[in-house]
Amino acid sequence: MQRKGIILAGGSGTRLYPVTLGVSKQLLPLYDKPMIYYPLSVLMLAGIREIAIITTPEDQSQFIRTLGDGSQWGISLTYIEQPKPEGLAQAYLLAEDFLGGAASTMVLGDNIFFGHGLPELLKKAMLQPSGGTVFGYRVADPERYGVVDFDSDGSVRSIIEKPEVPASNFAVTGLYFLDDTAPQRAADLTPSARGELEITSLLESYLHDQTLEVTLMGRGFAWLDTGTHASLLDAGNFVRTLEQRQGLQTGSPDEIAYAQDWISAEQLAQRAAIFAKNDYGRYLEQLLKN
Ligand code: TTP
Repeated sequence: MQRKGIILAGGSGTRLYPVTLGVSKQLLPLYDKPMIYYPLSVLMLAGIREIAIITTPEDQSQFIRTLGDGSQWGISLTYIEQPKPEGLAQAYLLAEDFLGGAASTMVLGDNIFFGHGLPELLKKAMLQPSGGTVFGYRVADPERYGVVDFDSDGSVRSIIEKPEVPASNFAVTGLYFLDDTAPQRAADLTPSARGELEITSLLESYLHDQTLEVTLMGRGFAWLDTGTHASLLDAGNFVRTLEQRQGLQTGSPDEIAYAQDWISAEQLAQRAAIFAKNDYGRYLEQLLKN
């Protein structure tokens, strides 16, 4: 069975108030595209074509308006509501029917990944037949994240959510390749003190069975967070800098769909026409000429 994708794009976005009082964080602009384009692009780069988008009930219609059914990119998008932000691991319960026994790749809707060799890293994780793969990334402020605790031999001892005293500088990124047992494992979890089904508890369950691979993303990668006003602006500037310097888009589902041969030149031309008035549209037109 093909691995399916999940984008977790609910949550309350309280750190971005008052901006997110009326709009979902994951629909805010990251420079020239809606934020969710970037994690969606990661799943598409991995080769995933069946994707569920989990949102709050209030925001779902705006996501549908923004992304549609995915046919413009040769993929299929399914929308699932999360009534309350009760934790990242809850996604596996909400998506259980959608997954229908398939393995999954989940990405958080506000996580931005960029780096040379990313497609290869994704493809390797895609091929893992069972267990899970997550990625550790060195950050200056690990206490804000799930932190990897390594044994002296470099193997992973545990993953601790927002530790006061972090055991390392390696945070677990918001990209999780888990096998078909994830929904069943999520069902066995109990909510944490903050009332959430914690992703770290789900990962602990794999660790306990010695079936979790933690792959380190080197310093050549960028893993950016967009949860605060400053980090949102920084991430937007990062994308702008790259795009201006290289003349290449990052996080374009249109470009990836075309490169993967999931859409025809004619379909790409239709997309380009929608954006004819801006650089994004001109970029897509240019792809057709090359
Ligand atoms: P967070 O940034 O931890 O939470 P948040 O988006 O609600 O923001 P804030 O802390 O400012 O209130 O969430 C990480 C990602 O996961 C983000 O894309 C939202 C999503 N999410 C859900 O979809 N459902 C949830 O239950 C939680 C906790 C987060």
